[in-house]
Amino acid sequence: MPTHPSRPLLRLTPLAWALLSVACQPDPPPTSEPAGEAPTATASEADPQRLVLTGAAGGSRAWTVPELEAALPGKRAVIEVDSPVYHRHMRYEGFWLSDVLAAAGPPERWRGILAFQCADGFTPTLPAAEVGPLKLFLAVGEPDLPGGARWTRLKGLSPAPFYVVSPLPGSYRRLPWPFQLEAIRIVDFAEAHPGAWPRGAAADSAVMRGFERFRTTCFGCHSINLEGGIIGPELNTPRSVTEYWQRPMLTQFLLDPASVRARTKMPNLGLSPTDIAELLAYLDHMRGLRQASDAGQGDGAP
Ligand code: HEC
Repeated sequence: MPTHPSRPLLRLTPLAWALLSVACQPDPPPTSEPAGEAPTATASEADPQRLVLTGAAGGSRAWTVPELEAALPGKRAVIEVDSPVYHRHMRYEGFWLSDVLAAAGPPERWRGILAFQCADGFTPTLPAAEVGPLKLFLAVGEPDLPGGARWTRLKGLSPAPFYVVSPLPGSYRRLPWPFQLEAIRIVDFAEAHPGAWPRGAAADSAVMRGFERFRTTCFGCHSINLEGGIIGPELNTPRSVTEYWQRPMLTQFLLDPASVRARTKMPNLGLSPTDIAELLAYLDHMRGLRQASDAGQGDGAP
């Protein structure tokens, strides 16, 4: 069964979180903790938490929950999701993210890649065009919690102030649901991460499809030219994995990491042979785009 790519949590180092979440141990049962967590009206007025939206032209808007309600009359909804994080059925209230983006401005402002910026620095990205099809929902709390609590904590952490979820099975693999969300920004991937961008690849090539897969599935944990996640090792510099792994073994590792390495922290991501061929096309391409300062240094000689 594929495990879900995971992400660092506030106050846990990324590695600690990787160990917690990828180690195949079920999470401890979540608890509702009204004490200290219930944001009373006074508390939220004193410290209104705003979601910041920054569009392509650079202009930005910031909304508190009441301001969102005013901007989206009658659009507040309650949805049910099967949570791969809490490992159970959850109810959330909030707004469809496509409605929120529509209220923020004309669609052309939201073309491109969305970066979901979380309090702990985790910033997963997703093409804006996928917000609708993935049925992304901007949760502002859970209804019906006892004692006026707004969120169920997990490992002591609250997803407040905003949490993006989806009722669609599989959405979590496209976008690890960003919690403690503070801002959504439009970014151009090539500008944001030039080191991981497959410069020179044709638009409809295997390299580009592999890049797209890498961006959504691997980039949160692995870096290319030191850009990307730090839970897994860097894959391109000073040497590319395509240089020091034998190709059949690398393919097998991506297909089923535990079949190559016991106690691996690398999740089985349910990749197809085509996914893997395209990922390797991307990694091969990036080997040629190694950052000049790294090339030829730190070589493998013992
Ligand atoms: C949840 C985090 C996570 C995700 C997502 C992830 N990996 Fe990994 N990966 C790791 C960790 C941690 C290791 C470290 C080695 C180990 O534990 O076996 C690793 C190891 C590797 C290695 C071996 C590196 C080496 O030199 O030993 C390769 C290659 C690799 N991952 C490729 C990928 C690719 C390609 C994807 C996306 C399809 C991906 N990983 C997604 C965490 C992740």
